[in-house]
Amino acid sequence: MAEFTLPKNSKINGKGRVHRAPEGAKRTRTFKVYRYDPDSGENPRYDRYEVDLDSCGPMVLDALIKIKSEQDSTLTFRRSCREGICGSCAMNLDGKNGLACTTAIEDIKGGEIRITPLPHMDVIKDLVPDFTHFYAQYASIQPWLQTVTPAPAGKERLQSPEDRAKLDGLYECILCACCSTSCPSYWWNADKFLGPAILLQAYRWLADSRDEKTGERLDDLEDPFRLYRCHTIMNCANVCPKGLNPAKAIAETKKMLAERAV
Ligand code: SF4
Ligand code: SF4
Ligand code: FES
Repeated sequence: MAEFTLPKNSKINGKGRVHRAPEGAKRTRTFKVYRYDPDSGENPRYDRYEVDLDSCGPMVLDALIKIKSEQDSTLTFRRSCREGICGSCAMNLDGKNGLACTTAIEDIKGGEIRITPLPHMDVIKDLVPDFTHFYAQYASIQPWLQTVTPAPAGKERLQSPEDRAKLDGLYECILCACCSTSCPSYWWNADKFLGPAILLQAYRWLADSRDEKTGERLDDLEDPFRLYRCHTIMNCANVCPKGLNPAKAIAETKKMLAERAV
């Protein structure tokens, strides 16, 4: 196997490597990027990439793609849609979780821009977190329409415009996990607490007038950890790139549980 060689313009700087912009670049910004390859046996490090902004698109994802194409093909990150729909480019952007594809470079103030994976997740490589547990939690809430009555012959299960409107602010969730990985309760209890993203998704089915398993869904959530570890710290609502409010969905779920207990 060929030995790993540093790309042109790269050098070891302490533990991290520095990748300079091409000579003559007039307007540059440095991205300080978390690098970790568990298979290498090496500790994580930060590499610095000086990016020529005059030949780069406006978004953080544009800079990462440029770095990977022109400076360091070993940099690993997820992306697909580049328009805030797939959720795969969620990462921590200079201290705040967000989507790299919808965050403008110029909106991150200061000098270097620090890019790290979503906090408190296991890292597969570089900026790619392991979503296995998150998806298992999502599967646990049975995120599909559940009914007991037969569907009307030859028709869809209809919903009034008012009932459909109750799903606004819920159906838009792209499962990026920016909220859950900003939540201190989720950091410390992710093994048992479902976290804001999954609880918002759970409420999406509780709020659906067509679903007929509301009681069972509430039974499943009524647990000191799965739901009640939310302490209304509100980090989740502050970071959601779709402008959603998981804390409100959690409060509505608690209200449903309180009302059925009376
Ligand atoms: S409001 Fe609840 S779910 Fe949202 S960040 Fe705070 S503790 Fe976590
Ligand atoms: S609620 Fe917002 S931040 Fe949380 S997973 Fe959904 S889209 Fe992402
Ligand atoms: S690439 Fe799809 S949300 Fe950013």
